[in-house]
Amino acid sequence: MTSMLSAVNDYKLFIGGEWQDASSGERFERENPATGEPIGRFARGEEDDADRAIAAAHAAYLARSWWDIPGAQRQQMMRGVADWLREHIDDLTTIVSAEAGKPLAWAQFDVLFAADYFDYFSGLVRDVGVAGRTIPSLRPDLFAYTLKEPAGVAGIITPWNFPLLIAAQKAAPALAAGCSVVLKPAPQTPLTAIELARAFEKLEFPPGVFNVVTDTGPGSPVGARLCSHPNVAVVSFTGSTGTGSRVMEACAPTMKKVALELGGKSPMIVHSDADLEAAVDAAIFGIFFNTGQVCNASSRLLLHEDIADAYLERFVEVTSRLRVGRPTDAGTQIGPLISRDQMDRVLSYIEIGKQEGADLIYGGERVAGDLESGYFVGPTIFDNVREDMRLAQDEIFGPVLTVGRYATLDEAITRANATVFGLAAGVFTRDLEVVDRINREVRAGMIWVNEWLAMFPETPHGGYGMSGVGREMGPEAMQEFQENKTVIQKTGPRELMFP
Ligand code: NAI
Ligand code: MG
Repeated sequence: MTSMLSAVNDYKLFIGGEWQDASSGERFERENPATGEPIGRFARGEEDDADRAIAAAHAAYLARSWWDIPGAQRQQMMRGVADWLREHIDDLTTIVSAEAGKPLAWAQFDVLFAADYFDYFSGLVRDVGVAGRTIPSLRPDLFAYTLKEPAGVAGIITPWNFPLLIAAQKAAPALAAGCSVVLKPAPQTPLTAIELARAFEKLEFPPGVFNVVTDTGPGSPVGARLCSHPNVAVVSFTGSTGTGSRVMEACAPTMKKVALELGGKSPMIVHSDADLEAAVDAAIFGIFFNTGQVCNASSRLLLHEDIADAYLERFVEVTSRLRVGRPTDAGTQIGPLISRDQMDRVLSYIEIGKQEGADLIYGGERVAGDLESGYFVGPTIFDNVREDMRLAQDEIFGPVLTVGRYATLDEAITRANATVFGLAAGVFTRDLEVVDRINREVRAGMIWVNEWLAMFPETPHGGYGMSGVGREMGPEAMQEFQENKTVIQKTGPRELMFP
């Protein structure tokens, strides 16, 4: 790859098919969260840089330079992106690992999943994703049908926890719908977005169809401009609920479509008859995968009181064998948190939990020693957590598990629903009646039964309540980037009303 990871490299913005500096000429640095060492210097985009990218994207949209390309060819171009990602998997894995602090195997998962999104949505370009419907049963002299059209310019604002995967999760359906895209990555993970732009450059997508503008805080000048600019039709955002709420508000004056995938505090219920080994395994993955920086993390464990002690004993035993370490070390299972800010935030929640009276039964500390230069916090478990504690209400986004014990299924369901969020939930049981009640009564956009975190490009994903609006993945994702046009067409001569 042209840009091997190097502290001295300067990276530009990708606008209208060209690499450009920010108009201010300024740059910002990003560090590797496992070592604190710089990984590159990035163009510091501001409002006027966003304006240039939006203008390029809008021009491509108006010229229909992308969405008028025949479906078969657009499909091939999108599959080309998937192929490009797989061809560059080693370099991309290194980059994802370095900028996001992911153990190599999981960084590779980010790349493979991103490629699969482009494969999946490339298929929809030729079928259900873009097909309207014919409408029968009108008057016999009328023919009615619907067309799905690209909404226009899509502003895509991504977080840092799955930098390449989430960029692809949004860009692939946007492009499949025929939109042009301005991608604004999180300031912590700008490099994967820049590498993704290289695929579009290499594959000679029409200029302006895919743009990347990097920025850094406070706030996000480019993200804010994507929300306020009248020529952006859709904003698709993943991140915190607070910022999502500000995004929605900023999009209101220009009446944009918004798709928001926000926070979660997802309950996993382990019932008295559950396969305990399976339920421990899934919960360990659910809360410690990606160091807990996962919107769908199983951060609230609700255990039936009959099995709670046996379950926790095994949980702690397996947790004690997890390997926290540098992402580049073979065998590392848990890497650092994304930044010093995030580490401080997680540690402050651990303090809050202790003050609220929850029982810290495992971990709870920064991991120092030879990991001191990075932002490592080890697996942490709080028992006897009540729903009136902040520990049970706020999205912590770290390796912090809360445990509650319940006596009846009614109680478990009430407690599962005692949150403003509704992203995911799950149950471990062999009893179909229990499954049925969870499926019907727990308010969440995703329910896992005897499983956790399994998802595919085919499975729609999104939240109830403060977890957001809209759905990603599946054909549903394309609707976020489409307008619907209804055509009602007269057939035969018109019988005059005013002869
Ligand atoms: P954030 O939600 O503020 O940032 C996400 C993205 O939004 C970034 O690209 C950021 O630059 C952009 N952004 C920030 N302010 C904006 C604005 N006013 N208008 C438009 N875009 C804006 O998240 P942050 O600050 O990185 O992390 C804070 C907390 O958010 C985390 O501790 C975690 O709890 C939560 N979070 C949740 C995620 C999820 O998937 N549920 C993902 C990332 C963060
Ligand atoms: Mg923020």
